Amino acid sequence: MPRKNVGRRKRIRLDFTNLMANVVGSRHGVSRAELKAEFPRAREISRLLKKQRAEGKLAFMDLPYQKQWVREIEDYARTMPGTTENFVVIGIGGSALGNIMLHSALNHPEHNLLPRSRRGGCPRMFFLDNVDPDRTASLLETLDPRKTVVNVITKSGDTAETMSNFLIARAWLMRAVGKKKLSRRIVATTDETKGHLRKIVERENYKSFIVPDGVGGRFTVLTPVGLLSAAVSGIDIRLLLEGAAAMDRICRADDPEKNPAALNALLHYLLDTRKGKKISVMMPYAHRLRDFADWYRQLWAESLGKKLSLTGKQVNVGQTPVKALGATDQHSQIQLYMEGPFDKAVTFIGLETYPKEIKIPRAFANMEGIAYLGGRSLGELIKAEQESTALALAKNSRPNCTATLPELTPFTLGQLIFLYELQTAFSGALYNINPFDQPGVDLGKKYACGMMGRKGYERYKDEVKRGAAKGKRLRV
Ligand code: PA5
Repeated sequence: MPRKNVGRRKRIRLDFTNLMANVVGSRHGVSRAELKAEFPRAREISRLLKKQRAEGKLAFMDLPYQKQWVREIEDYARTMPGTTENFVVIGIGGSALGNIMLHSALNHPEHNLLPRSRRGGCPRMFFLDNVDPDRTASLLETLDPRKTVVNVITKSGDTAETMSNFLIARAWLMRAVGKKKLSRRIVATTDETKGHLRKIVERENYKSFIVPDGVGGRFTVLTPVGLLSAAVSGIDIRLLLEGAAAMDRICRADDPEKNPAALNALLHYLLDTRKGKKISVMMPYAHRLRDFADWYRQLWAESLGKKLSLTGKQVNVGQTPVKALGATDQHSQIQLYMEGPFDKAVTFIGLETYPKEIKIPRAFANMEGIAYLGGRSLGELIKAEQESTALALAKNSRPNCTATLPELTPFTLGQLIFLYELQTAFSGALYNINPFDQPGVDLGKKYACGMMGRKGYERYKDEVKRGAAKGKRLRV
């Protein structure tokens, strides 16, 4: 496996200055006094999380050190059938978003267009995380099943979207290679013992990897869920885990001023609950990090958007995460962020060094309106735009903060991922809710099962037929 993107000693940095009242004003920013008043509580939460971790209740926190499956994953990636031109990941939510994020952040942006030799011998990567029939049909009609391996990922083993796509892909593979050779074309990632997929794995003898117990879907990117497709595509998963471990060590500090996960959680909690910042915008200024923002969206929304507190009180909490991309969305969203409601806190993610740099050629010397660009670089331009936007927002009393990656590598991305996972756990404690469940997703799933004719779900089908509306409907 080629060791690429190595940058072991590089640490990501966070700048919270523009979230503070002395910059954006006390109506919209957090004052030092307000922040400091929460420090005793933050220390208490740090100690509580450590205790829960020691009791084995926060399994995701140990993932950076769980190396038992790394060798097996690397071996699988190294010895995949040599004819494998395509690797198709089938999953949804926490069983797909991390995979997509790692691929777009760390592989060549045009990975699938490169000749195999320039992909380090790795297959082309595809992700089916929806059940839009057009998407699935179009992908499968494009690929050669005899040169494809499918990685079906589901922790529960019976998610309707994943299993439907899997059944379609399995039949498609079987038509091409026959039932006998099917097992060479499928690799499953699922619970060790539970769920229908595990039964199928045993019946049809697929290679399989385990989703460890006690780790919720959106926290599984550093398990075989995310690591397998990453390794298959050539990403150095050991460095990724090292990056996460490095962030874990930093965030063990009880002092919130030295713990970036605690400080970021605290600031965003105060912005939400005291300053009305109900929306958290994640805006990377790196095309490769657009799917990091997507991954964050799920993590923040599903973990913190909760109706009940830990004591059963109705609280209906949670900031709404919004994804934006710099500089593209400066021409789409920034007008709203600058002049619309004062309900947002923006997080910029910047790169100090971009994986590639490109100069803008000098031309049209007598047209000052564009000549000034000549001789500069796109990296300079995107960074200038990021800094300018942060400053302009701050000047307009719009709180924002910036995470800077010295470079984009598995090591720095591992840090960023783990920072946000820890921050989410910390935020759960601040809001006094359970950040690891998702009861709100279940009712919709039950209705869908009922409509698709699943046994035992008949009453949900009837409910759908009756509909939610009482009295006269409003339709056009
Ligand atoms: O975070 C979660 O728990 C969810 O987003 C799940 O990952 C998603 O529903 C898919 O579940 P499963 O892996 O069981 O198919």
